[in-house]
Amino acid sequence: MMFSHLEPYAGDPILSLNEAFQKDPRADKVNLSIGIYFDDAGRIPVLDCVRRAEASMLAESAPKSYLPIEGSAAMRTAVQHLLFGAGHEAVTGGRVATLQTVGSSGGLKVGADFIKRWLPQNEVWVSDPTWDNHRAMFEGAGIAVHTYPYYDATTGGLKFDAMLDTLRQLPARSVVLLHACCHNPTGVDLAPEQWRALIPVLRERELLPFLDLAYQGYGDGFAEDADAVRALAASGLTFFIANSFSKSMSVYGERAGALSVVCADAAEAELVLGQLKATVRRNYSSPPIHAAGIVGRVLTDPALRAAWETDVSAMRERIKGMRRSLHAVLQAKRPGRDFGYFLSQRGMFSYTGLKAVQVDRLRDEFGVYLVRSGRICVAGLNTGNVERTAVAMAAVLGA
Ligand code: LMR
Repeated sequence: MMFSHLEPYAGDPILSLNEAFQKDPRADKVNLSIGIYFDDAGRIPVLDCVRRAEASMLAESAPKSYLPIEGSAAMRTAVQHLLFGAGHEAVTGGRVATLQTVGSSGGLKVGADFIKRWLPQNEVWVSDPTWDNHRAMFEGAGIAVHTYPYYDATTGGLKFDAMLDTLRQLPARSVVLLHACCHNPTGVDLAPEQWRALIPVLRERELLPFLDLAYQGYGDGFAEDADAVRALAASGLTFFIANSFSKSMSVYGERAGALSVVCADAAEAELVLGQLKATVRRNYSSPPIHAAGIVGRVLTDPALRAAWETDVSAMRERIKGMRRSLHAVLQAKRPGRDFGYFLSQRGMFSYTGLKAVQVDRLRDEFGVYLVRSGRICVAGLNTGNVERTAVAMAAVLGA
């Protein structure tokens, strides 16, 4: 046998849990495992703007040729305007190299391969904790991965001073992976003034930031959630940014994302774009045309764009409402504990502080699914399940 020596794949902790949830026969089960936005009826919404964009694509019935390696020009330009603002000097000056990618995961992978090829001495620092797949992706590209302090379990907030202290000691050109907003898994973000305190450290230490922006719109708004991107670009730093439309347009399986590299000038951006294209060609050749059609239309058609912004505001507000409900019930059931972090954390995720054994009890006894780190996807809560979920959490938390 050719493959008898293979190690069995243990499965991905998030995706396997989501599959286990689907198989659970209990009618009142609650899925807080995966980072997917569910509406108040527990369904993954199909946004009206996406439906209308797809209807116009169907009506046009254009040939489905290959896209260029770097993806759709219309989508790439629209992505730059969404990230940086249309008039940003980095965009008008042509110093941003942007490719459409296979989700933002594709952007992370292409970026990691590029770094391994062209900056082979550089190692990566990720927040402690981070999305599990960050480590796997960079290690998979052959790059050593380390952590910097981030989440403070005692306060449910940020260890900002410890984070800065660590970054100040990194070798020049180290890659620092940062969540631009709605940190996954903790929901703990840097405040705007903390980004402004971080930037001089990144510059002085000649570090290479790699921003992951998978939840734009879920924190405080499209422009607000791009604040870090815009501040880094304005400061003249060179950096990577992988962004996703999976959550913001509810188009998970379309694999709609992009990778941008902000460079010193247009000539450098041209060089970078060329080598990113070479990386894509060797990986998956070119990105999906359907994703480009949806994203390009929604971002550039004024009516679709307005509808999208309204829908994302409603999704964001629904999550905030669920945070308030969860907080209220838990605080009432366990008055001795401070659950204020559910209100200050942003985006889809919160770190509950639940231990793995408590997470297991929640799943086995109450049918509530979350990853064993204690991360919940708040967007899995709704008016029909939030109360009993909070009661179940209070029960496993103990007295
Ligand atoms: C998550 O963290 O749950 C999402 O980003 C989905 C994924 O691919 O892990």
